[in-house]
Amino acid sequence: MKLIYERSQPGRRAGRLPHYDLPKAEVPEHLRREAPPRLPELAEPELVRHFTALSDRNFGIDTGFYPLGSCTMKHNPRVNERVVALPGFRDLHPYQEDEGAQGALELMWNLQEILAEVAGLPAVSLQPAAGSQGELTGLMLMRAYFEDRGEGEQRDTIITADTAHGTNPASVTMAGFKLEKVETDARGNLDLADLRAKVNERTAGLMLTNPSTLGLFDEGIVEVARIFHDAGALLYYDGANLNAVCGISRPGDMGFDIVHYNLHKTFSQPHGGGGPGGGPVAVREIVEPFLPSPTVVRDGDAFRLDHDRPRSIGRVRGFGGPFGVFVRSYAFIRSYGPGLKEMSETAVLNANYLLARLKDTYELPYERHCMHEFVLSARNFKRDHGITALDVAKRLMDFDIHPPTVYFPLVVPEALMIEPTETEPKERLDEFVDVMQRIAVEAAESPELVKEAPHHRPVRRLDEVRAAKNPVVKYGFEEVTTPA
Ligand SMILES: Cc1ncc(COP(=O)(O)O)c(C=O)c1O
Repeated sequence: MKLIYERSQPGRRAGRLPHYDLPKAEVPEHLRREAPPRLPELAEPELVRHFTALSDRNFGIDTGFYPLGSCTMKHNPRVNERVVALPGFRDLHPYQEDEGAQGALELMWNLQEILAEVAGLPAVSLQPAAGSQGELTGLMLMRAYFEDRGEGEQRDTIITADTAHGTNPASVTMAGFKLEKVETDARGNLDLADLRAKVNERTAGLMLTNPSTLGLFDEGIVEVARIFHDAGALLYYDGANLNAVCGISRPGDMGFDIVHYNLHKTFSQPHGGGGPGGGPVAVREIVEPFLPSPTVVRDGDAFRLDHDRPRSIGRVRGFGGPFGVFVRSYAFIRSYGPGLKEMSETAVLNANYLLARLKDTYELPYERHCMHEFVLSARNFKRDHGITALDVAKRLMDFDIHPPTVYFPLVVPEALMIEPTETEPKERLDEFVDVMQRIAVEAAESPELVKEAPHHRPVRRLDEVRAAKNPVVKYGFEEVTTPA
């Protein structure tokens, strides 16, 4: 496919602005361009065709099944977009004084209340803009809490699971803590013996997602919480997997003191490729004084931003946070009404249905019911036919299915982490099973077909490391001869 610069023809225009009889803006000599910018020149039909062709090459949840484990790619209800585009929300200026933004503040306050209920913890800050920023904020809150108690120097270590998402250790390091990893036992729970040996007076806290990235609910979570609390440490809940437990079990009841939500996953939001997202945090009373400032508070029937928070860790995000994400998530939750529990139950049911239908073909490392996602291993294909998890993922693309997350969590070799979400009907799940089983047959009968996949995509296998390390994001006019 040609780039837009390669379609360009001198003098073509998609539109012309009316010629206003206004004086030319005075631009100081030294700031003036020496030559006009090299913009592509196209008439409107060609321009529309170009961008339509590009959009046709995209894959998204609106195009097909997207079982990307841990990323919760669920359908984004269109009503969310309608609500967020209401002029009162869309055109609101971030510097609008509180009296003129009562509707927006009320929405934020209501969202805080709902999130507090979901987590089973009393106080919420909506500010962080992603799960990872929620993690960093939560760790800063832990630091502030221990400094306030005179234990800031002493409590320097955070414990994470060996199945932890990469952002967990990254946040721990960014927040200036030392990292200690705990192993997973044979049932997929935190290994309690290993944990007991590692928790001591230097421990500031645990950072854990439950269900874990294996899609398993930790059966020892009450004991885990006791071990940390007995040692004077706190528990942080990475809420990326909340889609499994809304209205069923609450992190606060499990013993967690600080929780982040991934609004963009659990409560829908077109996301991926880095945003937009929302990572609010909820905390227990003992941590509440340190929450980011300002928070949204209610005085009678009025709502306002409270800046008078002397012990706060300060602001972690500009203005009130990612407001458009709040509106979409609030619309999503309100359309479910009290049925969030049903959302999670269906997510868990869909995942267990797939698990039951696939576990005789692909290896299942932990023989248990899963929560909203599960991890299979393609280890048997690698051993028997030289076919890897990556090969399976690439072959799925030939059937218009987005690959699952692969090679994560690290404790499972040749991992395929599958999360169907609650928004998929049974027919889609069955189609996925059929394709996965067909790939298993191909792996045995015609492995080259799988090894060389994808066959029907605009590009085949890319050098992903090179693309990440050496991205070319600028058109090389100098190196390219534009066609006449
Ligand atoms: C388990 C887990 N924790 C944390 C994160 C980080 O969330 P975000 O991408 O919003 O920064 C993710 C994201 O995929 C995740 O799966």
